[in-house]
Amino acid sequence: MEQTSVRTHWSSRWAFMLVTIGSAVGLGNIWKFPFMTGTNGGSAFVLVYLACIAAIGVPLLMAESMLGRRGQSNPVGTMRSLADEAGASRAWQVIGLIGILGSVLILSFYSVVAGWVLDYTLRAVEGFQGMDKAALGAAFGDLLASPGRLILWHSLFMVLSAGVVLGGVTGGIERANKIMMPALFAILLVLLGYGAVAADLSAAFRFLFHFEPQAISGKVVLAAMGHAFFTLSLGMGAIITYGSYLGREVSIPRTSLVIAGADTLVALLAGLSIFSFVFAQGLEPAAGPGLILQTLPLAFAGMPGGHVIGVLFFVLVVFAAWTSAISLIEPATSWLVEHLGWSRRAAVLSLAGLIWLLGIAVALSFNAWEGFKIFGLGLFDLFDALTSKFLMPVAGLLIAVFTAWVMKREHVREEIGLSGGAFALWFTVVRYVSPVAILLIFLHVIGLLG
Ligand code: PHE
Repeated sequence: MEQTSVRTHWSSRWAFMLVTIGSAVGLGNIWKFPFMTGTNGGSAFVLVYLACIAAIGVPLLMAESMLGRRGQSNPVGTMRSLADEAGASRAWQVIGLIGILGSVLILSFYSVVAGWVLDYTLRAVEGFQGMDKAALGAAFGDLLASPGRLILWHSLFMVLSAGVVLGGVTGGIERANKIMMPALFAILLVLLGYGAVAADLSAAFRFLFHFEPQAISGKVVLAAMGHAFFTLSLGMGAIITYGSYLGREVSIPRTSLVIAGADTLVALLAGLSIFSFVFAQGLEPAAGPGLILQTLPLAFAGMPGGHVIGVLFFVLVVFAAWTSAISLIEPATSWLVEHLGWSRRAAVLSLAGLIWLLGIAVALSFNAWEGFKIFGLGLFDLFDALTSKFLMPVAGLLIAVFTAWVMKREHVREEIGLSGGAFALWFTVVRYVSPVAILLIFLHVIGLLG
């Protein structure tokens, strides 16, 4: 398909990789992965998560980038033009719409969590010296109990995120990513090194990698699959949109492997360092969403140079969250601009306003509205479960089916840039393995399979 000359493209082939790593690496890796590993039994979760990244995540990351580059539009427009090209029903646009709905829901709780991290950045400046595990547990409890603080930080994070999308995505974000992502890696390595000498790295290692297939349950598998989608930013239109700004010269398979590799590495490094401290301090691995906020400050309090490293760490987590948040706003923005003809400003401000309001409701679900439940879940847990365990896998399933069953095979081959055995392998995985795996997991969970 012809590439339209008006559409912005990334400044270099590195830029796509960087911003997509920026989208993928976020709270999902540093906050969610460790806490989910802790609540889902450790190594069983990690094993299934890694299998899902390989069998579903990477192939779909390639497929989504490919769709975006071929479609050259927002997620809905891309699906419409690709459906037209394939002579298929325009109902496939639903993939883009699911993505837009899902990103709004994700950002409304993501921003609240990013707000926790902002709050802890300020505390890190004051220093965690002298705080023990009881004090840190109480501090996190106090934060959750305070609607004012939660809403304030959430609002600030939304202003930051909307501000960047308002100005367009290239310049600032590309540059910020280039500095911040390597710095985040370096600090994680420092923490890991400190965990190895001062805490219990071998217990952490055992917890994450001990081979324990009998601990795998339906619940663990669904959680791990959902997390593979979440951590790679799949199914939400983010990758389709970023792919649509992608130049012809870039190798989609190679960049996808680098992106998924970096994302997985950050998650494993974060998990290893955090659990080293969890076990050394006798903390509860299944502590839930507050895990990193209750453990890492202990490490910072005890280590030489911990004050500075603590501040740096939280600042970098904010940056990681920020670059992901942008990728949650951009798809819907491009849709409102290209499809409904809104100005970028109107689109970003209304979206951010909507997400901000939903986020306030999420913040209140920890305190004033604690008793309000839908399907037995508070809003925070509901939005998380609805997106990771339902909307993302459904979108992923539809993307796999569209790519490998609906599109003309020669178009797919031409756009993905693979040939011979490599193409056959990827195509077979997208045609059979990924969709069947997603379906089986769903059927199992709703109880249709033993
Ligand atoms: N991948 C991001 C993270 O791990 C979250 C995200 C999901 C971003 C979906 C964009 C789309 O934090």
